[in-house]
Amino acid sequence: MKTAVFSARPYDRRFLDEATARYPAGQGIELAYFDVALDASTAGLAQGFDAVCVFVNDRLDAPVLRALHALGVRAILLRCAGFNNVDIAVALQLGLFVARVPAYSPEAVAEHALALIMTLNRQTHRASNRVREGNFMLDGLLGRTLHGKTAGIVGTGKIGVATARILKGLGCTVLGFDPYPSADFEAIGESVALEVLLALSDIVSLHCPLTPQTQHLINEESLARMKPGAMLVNTSRGGLVNTDAVIRALKSRQLGHLAIDVYEQESALFFQDLSGEIIDDDVFQRLMTFPNVLVTGHQGFFTVEALEEIADITLRNLHDFAEGADCANRVVAAKS
Ligand code: NAI
Repeated sequence: MKTAVFSARPYDRRFLDEATARYPAGQGIELAYFDVALDASTAGLAQGFDAVCVFVNDRLDAPVLRALHALGVRAILLRCAGFNNVDIAVALQLGLFVARVPAYSPEAVAEHALALIMTLNRQTHRASNRVREGNFMLDGLLGRTLHGKTAGIVGTGKIGVATARILKGLGCTVLGFDPYPSADFEAIGESVALEVLLALSDIVSLHCPLTPQTQHLINEESLARMKPGAMLVNTSRGGLVNTDAVIRALKSRQLGHLAIDVYEQESALFFQDLSGEIIDDDVFQRLMTFPNVLVTGHQGFFTVEALEEIADITLRNLHDFAEGADCANRVVAAKS
């Protein structure tokens, strides 16, 4: 089973190679690594491969899927949970096998959301820089005690529940909004309408998938409904947030803090070293000017435990495809 692994960073190679070595049927699996992201200009690299293995910013739109299919590729293996970057309708038409890793250490992402909240609230990133320079002044580092505050979780699935549990542990009152409320969440917090969550929460944390219904869920109107000075946290997908509207809300002080691990235009920036380049994204650069904005480059998933799980499940999905076995993680059923 020859598989072309796109957007392969050194850690992808390490964890996939280690998983292949320990996988019982690992001998039949041949992985070739490509640093580049998959898009129309790189799809040709998949010539001669049975499958492609991709990540969040690889682009599997209709032209790319058709190109892959014409090259003989029959399986798409996502090393992530979200599949908003795949044109599922076209994949279905072409009969492609698409499988994802629906859950891998949801706590890893929840803990990163916590790291963002704590860092931004107490300004530990700025405090650390100051102390290194011998500046022990506290001005500008004033935070809020989180105990007793209200946290709103939008999307109370696996990561949302893990985040809710952590925030509850801090002594927050936890509200949740999800069109499909879960019993797991109900045991931790209270499900309310989105408008109520936005109006009452000191921290709003997004954990729903990016779909046509959730695109720009955070926009001018929803930001206006938020409690003035609240913190918005997005570790889910950049497209949930209208960044222009967020910048306006930051400028007007309606939004107090913004912490993001994802960004709508991240594919041009994230997972690359651009430290010697001119960043050609004025919206992103504007965000960088706010002292009350914290951005990380899509690293919520980035723990040893999560990468081990991602690699193991990806190989299992590949094996299911090769054997024609039922695959619980399949996103698309082949058209028969
Ligand atoms: P999940 O499928 O367990 O939970 C998602 C929840 O969102 C579901 O309960 C669903 O009913 C709910 N939902 C759907 N539409 C909604 C809407 N309009 N409003 C509110 N809730 C809605 O998924 P999981 O594992 O919790 O992951 C959530 C998201 O986190 C993924 O879709 C992915 O985009 C993101 N993610 C980010 C990572 C990172 O490294 N930053 C890593 C892994 C996932």
